[in-house]
Amino acid sequence: MRYFQFKENELLCEDVPLPELVEEYGTPLYVYSRNQVIENYKSIDSAFGAMDHAVCYALKANSNLHILKLLAEEGAGADVVSAGELFLALKAGFTPEKIAFAGVGKREDEIEYALTQRVFSLNAESHQELQLISRVALRLNTTARVSLRINPDIDPQSHPYITTGLHSNKFGIDSAKAIDAFRYALSLPALEVIGLHTHIGSQITKTEPFIETARFVVQFLEKLRETGVRISHIDFGGGFGVQYSNAVRHEAIPVEDHGSTPTPSPAEFVGSFLPILQQTGCSVWLEPGRSIVADAGILVTKVLYTKENGSKKFVVTDAGMTDLLRPSLYNAHHQIVPLKIETYESEKVDVVGPICETGDFLARDRSLTKVKPNDGLAVLTAGAYGFVNTSHYNARPRPAEILVNGERVRVIRQRETFEDLV
Ligand SMILES: Cc1ncc(COP(=O)(O)O)c(C=O)c1O
Repeated sequence: MRYFQFKENELLCEDVPLPELVEEYGTPLYVYSRNQVIENYKSIDSAFGAMDHAVCYALKANSNLHILKLLAEEGAGADVVSAGELFLALKAGFTPEKIAFAGVGKREDEIEYALTQRVFSLNAESHQELQLISRVALRLNTTARVSLRINPDIDPQSHPYITTGLHSNKFGIDSAKAIDAFRYALSLPALEVIGLHTHIGSQITKTEPFIETARFVVQFLEKLRETGVRISHIDFGGGFGVQYSNAVRHEAIPVEDHGSTPTPSPAEFVGSFLPILQQTGCSVWLEPGRSIVADAGILVTKVLYTKENGSKKFVVTDAGMTDLLRPSLYNAHHQIVPLKIETYESEKVDVVGPICETGDFLARDRSLTKVKPNDGLAVLTAGAYGFVNTSHYNARPRPAEILVNGERVRVIRQRETFEDLV
């Protein structure tokens, strides 16, 4: 989180003090650092050196059009999982030759849209989907480039809701049946079978599951070649974990012991498996989402009230699960810090939102710098799977989004009004 730091006692995004943004734009407010997004993308892209590759940003992590445009301008590709995401990717300027269309449940109209837009690859996840893609391609009198998503049954050691490469997960084609699936795809008309796709999960904090998956891919491709099938493309998915604790430091802010083992950098992740995949001679695509945008964004909220129920202390904020779902959904940890340091005292509290759900919290049993009503708080590392998961539950308009570039500030999504609820 290089671009969110305390200067003296005030938290800044790049060169802009966050309390000033609160004055101007109110709360809850998403704030993003342009330079952090670009730096994160470049660190992954440059880890490939001269190798034939593409870094295809996974739109699901954050699909604000202005953030997408930044990445498209840098030459990134796009990983999309719906016709809506494909529409946004094209609107942002991503070239179709660098777009992969993934997803376990593509509808016929979505397949047709992807084919007419000439995306590089549809990543298919079942025999029935292959059949449907073939039928649609025939009807459109075109050829569909497809990759087969294989489920390698590898444990990414992350939260059960975001593991995707185990046989108990709905994703991909069972590795034991995958050779047959390739043969089947080759037997269908109007398909060009170009590649293999894997994506084993998200917020993976160790290199081992990636190394294991890369070894699986190499062995699988050898077997595939023995049966006479050759492919030229590997889409290795996303999943690089990011550091959610101790993202920002100040001597007044309690040091967190949650998940204190450092997470490898994106370049270290890529460096761990790339030499293995290089043996295949295939082009390699990645689909990172979180590692590009998570630490480039924060959610700013205001303290409404502080209260005590028995021995329990609560800080009630104006942002809740409708603005950032991850804590309620995954019990996910986000560091929370005041926008202005006014005391060195801290206390154990639950930081809760205004929604009528007990599961509406931003942090539980958290050592937080002491706060009072009207204080601003930053919920850190909220750039990925943050705004995209907002909702109108309890008839709450969605927050605004701001992009900071040095001293410049741009509203990249207006705060919703009551009319947007109708
Ligand atoms: C197919 C696919 N690719 C890429 C991603 C992006 O993952 P992450 O944001 O962890 O990099 C996901 C998300 O789970 C996904 O399902």
